[in-house]
Amino acid sequence: MKLWKGRFQKEADPKTNDFNSSISIDSRMYREDIEGSMAHATMLGECGIIEKGESEKIVKGLQGILADLDSGALMIDPDAEDIHTFVEGELTARIGDAGKRLHTARSRNDQVALDVRLTLRKDCAAVQTQLKDFVKVLCRKAEQYAATVMPGYTHMQRAQPITFGHHLMAYAEMLLRDLSRLEDALKRMDVMPLGSGALAGTTYPLDRTITAKLLGFSQISQNSLDGVSDRDFCAEIAFDASLIMVHLSRFCEELVLWCSWEFQFIELDDAFSTGSSIMPQKKNPDIAELIRGKSGRVFGDLMALLSMMKGLPLAYNKDMQEDKEAVFDAVDTLKLCLTPLIPMVETMTVKEDKMRAAAAGGFINATDCADYLVAEKGLPFRDAYKITGELVALCIQKGLTLETLPLEDYRAVCPDFDEGVYGAISLEKCVGGRKVLGGPAPENVKAQAQRVLGLLEKEEK
Ligand code: ARG
Repeated sequence: MKLWKGRFQKEADPKTNDFNSSISIDSRMYREDIEGSMAHATMLGECGIIEKGESEKIVKGLQGILADLDSGALMIDPDAEDIHTFVEGELTARIGDAGKRLHTARSRNDQVALDVRLTLRKDCAAVQTQLKDFVKVLCRKAEQYAATVMPGYTHMQRAQPITFGHHLMAYAEMLLRDLSRLEDALKRMDVMPLGSGALAGTTYPLDRTITAKLLGFSQISQNSLDGVSDRDFCAEIAFDASLIMVHLSRFCEELVLWCSWEFQFIELDDAFSTGSSIMPQKKNPDIAELIRGKSGRVFGDLMALLSMMKGLPLAYNKDMQEDKEAVFDAVDTLKLCLTPLIPMVETMTVKEDKMRAAAAGGFINATDCADYLVAEKGLPFRDAYKITGELVALCIQKGLTLETLPLEDYRAVCPDFDEGVYGAISLEKCVGGRKVLGGPAPENVKAQAQRVLGLLEKEEK
């Protein structure tokens, strides 16, 4: 049944009806739609706009619909124009005339603006919980591998020694920023739009603070045109989801590299790996690759939202119905990716010996060798840098490393060298000495992991 039947003489063309309908997407908001309607009806009753008895009848009727939808006793009509139409129609079918009073002083335009906010509020809370779980896993792993030496890379070339724990904590930092960004978006979304009407508010003496309070909003929209046509929060959440996907895809790319035969830094648990239908030896990191791949669709959702809103005149336009598919897909995809990623990281085997061997083989202590000449022998850094470069060339020529190059060879290049150089360039020393705040020394990594775990714990209280 169409809500807007009176003006029309004909039923909508069935294919056009399908095209116009948003029920396949917005039925996911049935709970929020009903909660919003209950709050609206309660407010109408309290303000004397409808009779108290009718308001109670409406709330009761809506409770019944919610219970029946939850239990599966009531199915959503796939031909309904949208969830708002369906719920109102069902209510009227159940309670008669009182149901027809629910939409007093309300439009689907402010109703949908409310429903999307209520839905995203819950979805974002679920994402936040997952992100926090992931950060905790990263911190615990970082503590466990706080002293595990591995090569740090720039340009994908071995650069300087770090610890695996330090590497993991870099991702914890990114995710903490993501959490705070989501928190921020939620604050701006915390605005109750009911009362904006179709676009121009209403002549009924509403008390919008009652509705806001009942629905747990801390603010009320201050301009009716903006109230119905603001979708900034959808774009913001899609952006936040996109940036999280950037972070997840970077991490997944590293997992793919690390579990390759060339690196062998980690091994993924069988439960989170896949095989090949033809190559019996294969153990593939499909999950990590799929997460990396799915980042693209989340960026697509953000682009869809931005281009959908661009150039829209005030106030509501039907274009905006496209908001839900995009923003829900962004949060759903994100949740879907985090679900296997967290246990996959938790269960992976870390091959500390392989990490150490890679760190020992790539002259990643060359900077420390130069620093030794500066600190112990008083050479200017630029001279020390040049000498060390010559030593590296000599090592390559002889098939040796800085650790195995004999002292005579050191002294032939620069007579200032003595036995002390071997201590200065030991990987443990190189890493352990980097105690500067934010550096990879094992004690730092432990302290950082503790700090972050403490932050999360504090928030949970
Ligand atoms: N299904 C619509 C949407 O998602 C609800 C609002 C409809 N309003 C209207 N005037 N057609 O945006």
